[in-house]
Amino acid sequence: QVPVITIDGPSGSGKGTLAGRLAKHLGWHLLDSGALYRLLAFAARNHGVDLTNEEALKVLAAHLDVQFSTKPGGGQRITLEGEDVTDVIRSEQVGAGASQVAALPAVRDALLQRQRAFLEAPGLVADGRDMGTVVFPQAQLKIFLTASAEERARRRFLQLQGKGMEADQATLLKEIQDRDERDSQRSVAPLKPADDAILLDSTRLSIDEVQEKILEAFAA
Ligand code: CDP
Repeated sequence: QVPVITIDGPSGSGKGTLAGRLAKHLGWHLLDSGALYRLLAFAARNHGVDLTNEEALKVLAAHLDVQFSTKPGGGQRITLEGEDVTDVIRSEQVGAGASQVAALPAVRDALLQRQRAFLEAPGLVADGRDMGTVVFPQAQLKIFLTASAEERARRRFLQLQGKGMEADQATLLKEIQDRDERDSQRSVAPLKPADDAILLDSTRLSIDEVQEKILEAFAA
């Protein structure tokens, strides 16, 4: 059985950065499941599909022409219909659209097999909201990563700034809180830790410290 480590948690908890680092460290594949929901929201806007049109979104999700590749310097490059969308899908606007389409059962269903197809030897690190609960319940190690909303807004701010994108910390905090609320209140795959997940609060921990803790848990 090919091993999986899942990292779930709310927006800005650092799960994306960690998943990328762990995958690199272990030489494993990486699944950024949130990117799929972001790509769907982005593609829907490009194709004039309404974010409440479940039927049309389901078809779009099944046919998303996406490619994930590794950048020469490390990090992921994502292309949609041949266009590099790595950075544009990171905006909070696309994030909000992602969380809207992610609440639709037909959409989650259409993306399920696509996510499971990432599981290939020698192993997979998967990050998202329901990696440990729904997509890879058999995972060897499940991490649920949190941090205070203020700290998460601050990190997201720095991340967007680093990409040269405009952001305002107070607005980000509000958007993050709205998204947390929608992600945890929805009826399908709500954001919550798997019963066998390890809970990690990263508010006062550096990325290195969190990585260290996860590798310790993996070795145990
Ligand atoms: O980077 P950030 O944590 O802000 O968001 P993301 O992981 O890119 O996910 C964007 C949105 O997609 C989330 O707010 C969720 O609503 C949704 N999502 C989901 O429902 N299930 C996943 N496995 C991953 C993301």
